[in-house]
Amino acid sequence: MAQTIIYDCDPGRDDAIALMLAVGDPRLDLAAVTTVGGNLPLAGATANALDLLAALGAGDIPVYAGAGKPLVADLVTAPAVHGCGGLDGVDHNSALAPCPGHAAAVIARRIMESDPGTITLVATGPLTNLALAVELEPAIAHRVNNVVIMGGGYHTGNCTPVAEFNIHTDPEAAAMVFRADWPVVMLGLDVTHQATVDDRTQAMLTAAGTSAAVCAGKIMSAYRTAYRGQSAMPHPPIHDLCAVAYAADPTLFDSVHAPVAVELTGSLTRAMTVVDFRPTAPVNHRHTVVTGVDNSRLFATLREALGRLP
Ligand code: RIB
Ligand code: CA
Repeated sequence: MAQTIIYDCDPGRDDAIALMLAVGDPRLDLAAVTTVGGNLPLAGATANALDLLAALGAGDIPVYAGAGKPLVADLVTAPAVHGCGGLDGVDHNSALAPCPGHAAAVIARRIMESDPGTITLVATGPLTNLALAVELEPAIAHRVNNVVIMGGGYHTGNCTPVAEFNIHTDPEAAAMVFRADWPVVMLGLDVTHQATVDDRTQAMLTAAGTSAAVCAGKIMSAYRTAYRGQSAMPHPPIHDLCAVAYAADPTLFDSVHAPVAVELTGSLTRAMTVVDFRPTAPVNHRHTVVTGVDNSRLFATLREALGRLP
């Protein structure tokens, strides 16, 4: 039976590729998309989610806008990597609008209305909406099936030497998410930096031949150009794809159980995800830290989904 997911994101070029998997993989039932300010301001991320779902023939999937700014900090977007407008290769339709209701309230309501253990939250942007949802309705922590996030890292950062963008954008929200008593699977830069798309992989993906595959190719080409300008990585990591792929097939990944906490006050380490790998680490947590991915199976999974889309 397909796993029902609510996908919270800030599309965002890699979020867009992840959304294609969320729509195209038959093991996932995408119940709703919620958006958060992150890579782009909230309005831009929401418009991109609406436009992409329409382009994928999935315009019936509801989109709910959420937090336009972090809980405490100011929003700092990432236009150099994700652009400041519409997604590459996707027509913008200004007539499309999100459904009424704040994303956080919708997440809480959907989980409370569903049978326990039937909904998985997948988040690939700043964690503001998830933090607000569990603050609004703490009972969701014991009803959700899983919380799978792209964010953090235990050996490197991308905003600072130790902080990753989604956590760095809203560290207070991330701390609340990891403190809540629900299962959290963290896919940090440690694993997402392994999920890079070289030219051969991109050609394999676009060979799926669908309009979604062509669109994915345009997005990945723009992402590669932007990423090369911002980092020393020759090929771009499709960070967010890993989180949705984990929800579809955890066997693609290696992971360990280890508690995660978010540093909030360090002058050099604010927003660091501190992972305790020690054998003596506390065991009263529900955290899983992903450490590796089978890259060829990951992108074969994406190709399968692209071939199923229009
Ligand atoms: O650090 C990578 C993460 O930040 C990804 O989710 C990307 O989309 C940006 O939001
Ligand atoms: Ca993202």
